[in-house]
Amino acid sequence: MIHETDPTNGASPAGESNAAEIKAKAAQKQRDELESRFYKNCPQADPYIRKAERSSTPRPVQHSLVMKWPEFDCVDKLTEEHWEFGGPVVLPGLLLHGASGSGKTTSAYLAIRESFGCWYPADRQMPGVVAVGAVEMGRTISELARSGGDEFQAYLDRLCYCGLLFIDDLDKARFTPRVESELFDLLEFRAVEDRAVVVTTNLKGRELERMFSRHIGPAIVNRLRRICIPIDFDEPEFDAGAALAAVQAKIRADYVPQAEASRAYHLGEKP
Ligand SMILES: Nc1ncnc2c1ncn2[C@@H]1O[C@H](COP(=O)(O)OP(=O)(O)OP(=O)(O)O)[C@@H](O)[C@H]1O
Ligand SMILES: [Mg+2]
Repeated sequence: MIHETDPTNGASPAGESNAAEIKAKAAQKQRDELESRFYKNCPQADPYIRKAERSSTPRPVQHSLVMKWPEFDCVDKLTEEHWEFGGPVVLPGLLLHGASGSGKTTSAYLAIRESFGCWYPADRQMPGVVAVGAVEMGRTISELARSGGDEFQAYLDRLCYCGLLFIDDLDKARFTPRVESELFDLLEFRAVEDRAVVVTTNLKGRELERMFSRHIGPAIVNRLRRICIPIDFDEPEFDAGAALAAVQAKIRADYVPQAEASRAYHLGEKP
């Protein structure tokens, strides 16, 4: 084989296009790896994504808003502003509510696939993303709680320490009191630790609260409100611009004060 020498030492158009090709291949390899990890972590996603390729979204405006998550065209800018002292702005979760068939689960999986590389677990042993149906989660917690032992704790740890937790169809499960308290505990933990949660549900507000026992329903819904951006899939006349502006305002109100407090502390403006 003849190797031609490059007199410009790699700076020729041929050398540049070769470097660009290598870069493109590396980027493609990284995308393929992320995609295969996504399907491994979210095995239920595959039928939703395949079906979406053959159909159209019932709520295009809500869907396009969900696809802007987690940065919503503002978190990246806020992070730049706050990086020096405040560190990154916390990535918010989503509370997708609306009637059956409005496209919540499909939008959630498509957006999680896109953002898969953003979610870092609190502990390296844990997965970046855990996706679970609420019915399955309730059943697993009940079964493992009965047998007790390490497996039970390991399951709860995955739900607590993963980078992103997706609970599909929260209102479709009927939880035992034990499962309700475990759910409350894990949402409280994730709220305090700034770990994102995505939830889909047909019900919202008071109706969702009533799915749980009286003493715990409001506390569960309150945690979700605190850590998630709500998106209403029932609203047919969804105003995309107004909705995005409202979301950006909520992110500023909820997440910037933490970064501001940290900035003030580092500048010596202690309260
Ligand atoms: N983004 C999308 N692109 C194409 N098709 C979509 C999209 N979102 C939803 N669909 C289609 O709309 C239908 C309902 O979607 P999906 O199951 O996600 O609704 P849902 O709101 O989660 O319903 P449920 O509350 O019953 O779980 C499916 O046939 C799905 O393929
Ligand atoms: Mg669904």
